[in-house]
Amino acid sequence: MDNQTNTSTHKYAVVTGANKGIGLAIVQQLAIEGITVVLTARNEESGTEAALTLTKSGLPNIVFHQLDVQDSASVETLAGFVNNAGASGVEVDAEGLKSLNIDSATWLSGNATNMVQGLMRQTYEKAKECIDTNYYGCVRVTEALLPLLQLSISGARIVIVSSLRSELKRIPNEQIRKSLGDLDTLSLEKLDEMLQTFLRDLKEGVLVANGWPTMVPAYSISKATVNAYTRIVAKKYKEMCINCVHPGFVATDLNLHTGTMTVDEGARSPVLLALLPDGSPSGCYFDQTQMAEF
Ligand SMILES: NC(=O)c1ccc[n+]([C@@H]2O[C@H](COP(=O)([O-])OP(=O)(O)OC[C@H]3O[C@@H](n4cnc5c(N)ncnc54)[C@H](OP(=O)(O)O)[C@@H]3O)[C@@H](O)[C@H]2O)c1
Repeated sequence: MDNQTNTSTHKYAVVTGANKGIGLAIVQQLAIEGITVVLTARNEESGTEAALTLTKSGLPNIVFHQLDVQDSASVETLAGFVNNAGASGVEVDAEGLKSLNIDSATWLSGNATNMVQGLMRQTYEKAKECIDTNYYGCVRVTEALLPLLQLSISGARIVIVSSLRSELKRIPNEQIRKSLGDLDTLSLEKLDEMLQTFLRDLKEGVLVANGWPTMVPAYSISKATVNAYTRIVAKKYKEMCINCVHPGFVATDLNLHTGTMTVDEGARSPVLLALLPDGSPSGCYFDQTQMAEF
């Protein structure tokens, strides 16, 4: 987001889920670029501590603000352009998973699905929390900030941190793939309906029978719908660059540090998209720095 005074244009960014992981590295890289960054976290203590550490390292242009993307009141107090907060949506047997020692190629190809079946439990509560954070949280924050973003002189940037798990080819059900892939008929109401159907199918134990993703199902569908949301907003706000990105397989708490990239490497593509020059692509999905198929 840009804000012009009489003499200068200054850039501001808001990063969600920024007390640790990829979000924290995004804050650091944007601040190094001279952007004033609002580091947000749902936990005041860990957020303040993260902001202080960066400030002490010589980056004075960072401020902390509390933000829980699941809490509408908290969302309404904020403005910015980057969404990163994420939840995995599964209950994990961490020790069991670590002992399997699965390599990254197996993880990314989806071939780990059977190996981890007994170790990652998709409970209804975790699924709801995941969808409320990754999809509704993102929508909540974006919709609350859009009026402010529209004031940007040079056109705002919104970067939604997605995942490889969002890719439509990973969803077995052809009808779901088609609905999510058809920009002409996509709408927030349709996405809402789809997520409610997913949760109902989960409750009734028919996820596999109805062709939902088998690997981290709620996480996958939350990211597939957030990608669809990216396209809907990009179509509406043509003056902005609004994109979603898979940051890579990054070692963070989210995947029990099984990822192969560092958080600094993972922050690179979201930062690149946040700093896109005018006239750059919008409504696209990037696999790290490469534009890719939804
Ligand atoms: N790591 C990977 O390989 C990978 C791959 C693809 C996509 N991603 C995506 O990258 C993003 C960042 O994840 P990460 O890997 O950096 O994981 P992480 O280190 O676990 O960070 C997740 C962040 O989200 C925050 N968060 C969760 N619920 C929130 C809420 N309700 N309100 C505000 N913040 C909330 C967490 O805060 P707390 O500390 O308070 O829990 C934490 O700061 C996520 O969207 C994730 O899906 C990661």
